[in-house]
Amino acid sequence: MYSLKSLLSSLLRRPFALERGMLQRLAARYSLRRPYPDVPPYAAGEDARMPSGRLNRSEMIRLAFEFMAGNVMTGDYFEFGCWGGRTCRMAIEHHAIHFNQKMHFWLFDSFQGLPALSPLDRHPKWKGGDYCTPRKEFERIVSESGLPPDRYTIVEGFYQDTLTAALARDLAAKTRAGVIYIDCDLYESTRAVLEFIVPILQQGTVLCFDDYYCFNGRPDRGEQLAIREFLNAHPDIEFVEYAHFGWHGKSFLAHLRNGGQG
Ligand SMILES: C[S@@+](CC[C@H](N)C(=O)[O-])C[C@H]1O[C@@H](n2cnc3c(N)ncnc32)[C@H](O)[C@@H]1O
Repeated sequence: MYSLKSLLSSLLRRPFALERGMLQRLAARYSLRRPYPDVPPYAAGEDARMPSGRLNRSEMIRLAFEFMAGNVMTGDYFEFGCWGGRTCRMAIEHHAIHFNQKMHFWLFDSFQGLPALSPLDRHPKWKGGDYCTPRKEFERIVSESGLPPDRYTIVEGFYQDTLTAALARDLAAKTRAGVIYIDCDLYESTRAVLEFIVPILQQGTVLCFDDYYCFNGRPDRGEQLAIREFLNAHPDIEFVEYAHFGWHGKSFLAHLRNGGQG
């Protein structure tokens, strides 16, 4: 009788406490994890499992736009490695807070997946052709995200062919990069991207390297190797450490020692 009374009074004091307690016990019993509050439905998996206290991709991208807004920066969004549009959709969603109608999206991918892997890029998880989303499908995803066709440009093809000095000069005549999301997995691809973006960097361009800690975090592979070589070859450019995201990514801010723009 006493326990029934106390149960009733505790229910009155804290409605749903019983249900909440049962759900918590069930979650603990079956190792269910608390759903991550900032994971859009199209981005599940490791993004949803990220421990709290660590940014996931979506939060990294949002932070990048907050950084731009806080520093009164202008500039476009560049993505190298678009696949199924997961990060692109995050960027479309988050840029709208401060930069709706004010930012162009430049999207670079082969739409045939990864190129053939060089010996230095051999990886237990990846092979040539992985992560292939046909261009039409990608366009459908972007347009369903609400970005009008005049607000984005797709540059289709393998970087060895598309990332030319002439295109970089053309872009630099029009714009600067506010955020650059580099998610092309491989050393060879990242190397081509870094050389390409030099003319469009400005003070504070946010560079997000999605695969910084791939290849077991080795400094002599993948994005880390490409970054080290790039910075050695460009002593006028510094990457200021910014934020880590997920188990895999790290972001930097471009500092142009010779002044640059901005
Ligand atoms: C992991 S996926 C990108 C994932 C994407 N950011 C997302 O969140 O949905 C890697 C992408 O990089 C592209 N890629 C890698 N190296 C490339 C190269 N050399 N030229 C063109 N595309 C490349 C692949 O086609 C693939 O779409």
